[in-house]
Amino acid sequence: MGEMIKVIGVIGGGQMGSGIAQLGIVHGFHVYLLDNDPAALGKALHLISSSIQRLVSKGNLSQAERDEAMRRLRCTSSLDELRSCDFVVEAIVESEDVKKKLFSDLDGILKAPAILASNTSSISITRLASATRRPGQVVGMHFMNPPPVMKLVEIIRGADTSDETFSATKALAERFRKTVICSNDYSGFIVNRILMPMINEAFYTLYTGVATKEDIDTGMKLGTNHPMGPLELADFIGLDVCLSIMRVLQDGLGDAKYAPCPLLVQYVDAGRLGRKRGIGVYDYRKTPELVKP
Ligand code: NAI
Repeated sequence: MGEMIKVIGVIGGGQMGSGIAQLGIVHGFHVYLLDNDPAALGKALHLISSSIQRLVSKGNLSQAERDEAMRRLRCTSSLDELRSCDFVVEAIVESEDVKKKLFSDLDGILKAPAILASNTSSISITRLASATRRPGQVVGMHFMNPPPVMKLVEIIRGADTSDETFSATKALAERFRKTVICSNDYSGFIVNRILMPMINEAFYTLYTGVATKEDIDTGMKLGTNHPMGPLELADFIGLDVCLSIMRVLQDGLGDAKYAPCPLLVQYVDAGRLGRKRGIGVYDYRKTPELVKP
């Protein structure tokens, strides 16, 4: 099945979806990129086009290959256009209800052998699969941010994910030149199970006045050799995304140690969502060159 995948659907043209669509077209696939917000599609197209142009400038791609790749991309707002897809990966808002509705709609539209993948950071693949009549063909395909740059893809096997679906998804990730790790379907999977409590603890460290945000980030960068401090990373990921993952860990694992820090909750309530809003823990409006990743 891995080699039979030719047409990919990417749903959600935000930070993650635009990067996944870029990987698809650069590696020879036809990609339908769908977003229900036309402005998001326009932004995604611009982002993909300029990012691929940078590959040309660096000598990683010829101008002809760039043009070919762009021709393989089709932006749409109509789910029906995804009928011909062999593999669909969604990267829409991190909400179980919204993702379930999308999976149920896709189930009715896609051809029988098509695989449905979710880039969810934390929602149960088993529960998403239960919204379809093809639970064996539902899988988690968790890219890291930004997808064209980060080397890892975490594949999550739901309770019913078949071996064929897992192998096809792994083969696809390898066509994208990614290293694959496999997780069973428990809250947070591998990476976020470990990363998000660390970010949450950094918020508690700030909230309880232990140190300034700069010292917390510098401490973790230079003290543990992380490329970014945890608060800086939270701004990069999106504070809303971090908060919703903490809530999933708290609900799914039932331990008070996963309670989101009140400061994280307050920032999200205030609309301080990180770089994408120009302000999160840090204020990027004063240094506009930092707003764009
Ligand atoms: P984003 O907010 O940048 O983009 C989401 C896009 O989905 C928006 O353009 C929105 O218009 C669109 N959308 C929302 N509902 C839709 C629907 N029903 N149909 C079609 N389009 C819809 O979000 P981001 O950061 O790209 O995250 C997307 C997913 O990827 C989430 O599930 C998130 O947990 C996951 N993820 C995020 C990472 C990050 O660092 N931001 C890392 C790995 C996974």
